[in-house]
Amino acid sequence: MGKSRLMDPYFTELGRTVYARWKAVDFSLEAFPDIAAKALGEKPPARHADLGKLMVDFLLNDEQPYQSSSGFGQPELILHDNPKFYIQALFWMDGTTDIHQHGFSGAFHVMAGSSLHARYDFLKQRSVTARFRTGELKLRETALLPTGTTVPIASGSGCIHSLFHLETPSVTIVVRTHSDPGTDPQFTYLPPHVALDPIQNDTLTLRRKQLLDVLEQIEDPSYPKLVLRLIGDLDLERGFFILQNGIGYLRSLGVWETVWAAFVKKHGAKARPLLPALEEILRRDAIVAMRATVTDPDLRFFLALLLNLPDRERILGMVAKRYKGDPVSTVSQWALELIDLGEEYPRILDAVFPDQTSVPEEERPGVFLAALDHFLRGGKLPAGLRGVSKHDLALLGRALAKSSWSLLRRKS
Ligand SMILES: [Fe+2]
Repeated sequence: MGKSRLMDPYFTELGRTVYARWKAVDFSLEAFPDIAAKALGEKPPARHADLGKLMVDFLLNDEQPYQSSSGFGQPELILHDNPKFYIQALFWMDGTTDIHQHGFSGAFHVMAGSSLHARYDFLKQRSVTARFRTGELKLRETALLPTGTTVPIASGSGCIHSLFHLETPSVTIVVRTHSDPGTDPQFTYLPPHVALDPIQNDTLTLRRKQLLDVLEQIEDPSYPKLVLRLIGDLDLERGFFILQNGIGYLRSLGVWETVWAAFVKKHGAKARPLLPALEEILRRDAIVAMRATVTDPDLRFFLALLLNLPDRERILGMVAKRYKGDPVSTVSQWALELIDLGEEYPRILDAVFPDQTSVPEEERPGVFLAALDHFLRGGKLPAGLRGVSKHDLALLGRALAKSSWSLLRRKS
């Protein structure tokens, strides 16, 4: 096969179209997202470009645009390069992006696979430093983006979003500016209250966190005391990073409350919004870790919903859109597949069977699943739970309420 036959001219043509139309409006930044989205929509890459050919061409043909060393995408390939903008293909192997905004603008197109897209607003913003803000992150809307969908991207905090890619790989095509001056940093959001610059240029803090990790790994008994001294001395932003790094370990040591109290003592009311953000990091990390062990696409979809949607209505709505029948029954069926029998105490996702019940060991999985189903449905106590004491039911309810299942609780 000759090289000329390998080349797919689609992206060159797309690049030329976008360039000509943008030039005609004097490269107005405001006009760019619309121009990019229209060009992608008129002749969608999902239908007009050949992904297989593109991959073979990229591997065998040396004549490629300049490639970046970006760590975004798995990988990111640059398909067309222009001093004013470029076109990239992003492959996604493991699903999710953080909640983020962009310092560039343009449009993206779902070329292969499909994605769950969530958009947010960050209200009541307050700058702590140039790279760290607090505020209220509110979900604006969610949508399922099937193959072929195009979405414009604006730079800055007007376009805060996250994507969960449902198939592996998912491929998005992005037509984008290099960067839009004045819209940096590209904040990452830690719901519900924090925005931070993900580019870790505070290398002193980075090294301190790594040094603390050394102490953690060798189980050095001075770890909690050193963290307390650090927290007593550091500013809000740096203190937050030390807490974020250590919260899981400090909890397991049983000293988290003491460390948190020291942080609040130092920073007062400014510290308080950071606690729910730290707790949400732990919850998400647990779900992300589980996702790494789950390959079934339906279960992965469910975990994505728990990571990306904030409440029962939206999660069950999304389940009902994709699966026939009662969405609560679908979720209960997934719980049955997700239950981890463990040794003594079964787990369903991040909920652990409580350790102070009188429920015999062999009955715990069945009771836990029935309790979860009841937690999701509300109403009368089902037959499977009638032999369980009120005290044990309360413990089970509390275990579920402090897990990710709390998102799905039936509010009566
Ligand atoms: Fe994005």
